[in-house]
Amino acid sequence: MQRCVLLTGGTGFVGSALAASMLARGHKVVALSRNDPGGARTRDAVADAISGLSIEPATGWHSRLSIANVDLSQPEMALEKLSLDEVTDTWHVAAEMSYQPAKLPQAFHFNVASTSKLYSAIARRARNCKRFYYVSTAYTAGLDQDEVPERLHDAPRLLNPYQVTKWSAEAVLARKSADTGLPVTIFRPSVVIGDSVTGWNGTSSFGFYMFLDGLRLAAAHGAKAVTLDLRPDAQPNIVPIDVVVKRAVALTETTTEREQLEVFHCVADSTIENRLVLDQMSNATGVQVFTGPPRTPIDELFNKHVSLNKPFADGDWRFCTKRLKQVLGKAYSPSVVSETLVATVSGSYCGARNEDVASKYQRAAKAL
Ligand SMILES: NC(=O)c1ccc[n+]([C@@H]2O[C@H](COP(=O)([O-])OP(=O)(O)OC[C@H]3O[C@@H](n4cnc5c(N)ncnc54)[C@H](OP(=O)(O)O)[C@@H]3O)[C@@H](O)[C@H]2O)c1
Repeated sequence: MQRCVLLTGGTGFVGSALAASMLARGHKVVALSRNDPGGARTRDAVADAISGLSIEPATGWHSRLSIANVDLSQPEMALEKLSLDEVTDTWHVAAEMSYQPAKLPQAFHFNVASTSKLYSAIARRARNCKRFYYVSTAYTAGLDQDEVPERLHDAPRLLNPYQVTKWSAEAVLARKSADTGLPVTIFRPSVVIGDSVTGWNGTSSFGFYMFLDGLRLAAAHGAKAVTLDLRPDAQPNIVPIDVVVKRAVALTETTTEREQLEVFHCVADSTIENRLVLDQMSNATGVQVFTGPPRTPIDELFNKHVSLNKPFADGDWRFCTKRLKQVLGKAYSPSVVSETLVATVSGSYCGARNEDVASKYQRAAKAL
């Protein structure tokens, strides 16, 4: 059955890939974007995802994608002008991604207050919308849980505005869903990396990519080797974007009976040691990485550059996925992380960073 998906974050990494995958499955997408009066920014990002992802070709997608230029901090007002009768599902992907403590008010305003208002507006105005999917993060678990259950977390130890506001939004949506009746799915990816076949990762430099950027920075300072203060045997969870969007689409399409409030982890089914990841990053950047306390000024610079992500790379979380597997059944796509995968996404990122993003978009547009 054709769905009509209302989607936020269509200009970003995860959102553009999700829009592309929904369109490839023949669904309609209504993207809500800011600062995009003619829709070109969103359309270009989706075109780039369509040409970059290893998904089935999305033929005739232009006519099934519509873009509304809206200020998501005022969703009630923005949505008033739109007809939402066709909308069957909402995927709220957009988020303020900053880890900087000074950005807490801004992150709270968007990730919590605007999310809450958007949910209310959808519940009130999109009368055929069956479910509100909220893309959160697996790290609302905080730092002290090894075995992470598929439910809301009571009192996690959180480090930054991104985690704090994502955790708060989960709590707000759970309460509102019980009050208003529009079902909510909290969808928690771990660290999202590029496509497992092509390496494509849009324009993201979040999470995993901060380490590659740090190495590129070290290379720009002439370093041939750096020392990173990281546990070489830790096994963080990284999940490719094609797996994330495949599972998101499968959830949207499934006809299995669903719960009013669902919490799912969208993670890889295997992990890989930091040592092996760093070896592949070294191959991609030409900078060798040793682990241990920093010894040189370049080491200090590199360690500082990645410091906000280090606590997440240093951990060994095991995220439960039993419920997601139950709901998706055979549509669950397992994901095994290998050195080859890390080499593919690292190589692709380092190649792409050397290109001008605008010309990349032009090529994508020509290819379609
Ligand atoms: N990337 C990961 O590793 C990862 C892991 C787990 C969960 N997630 C979740 O996935 C979602 C998307 O992440 P991403 O990696 O795709 O990030 P991204 O590439 O930075 O995209 C963020 C998106 O949010 C939009 N946005 C940010 N602030 C906004 C605001 N104030 N008003 C309206 N739109 C705003 C951006 O629009 P503009 O283009 O207009 O700025 C962009 O479309 C987030 O909810 C994040 O928590 C990501």
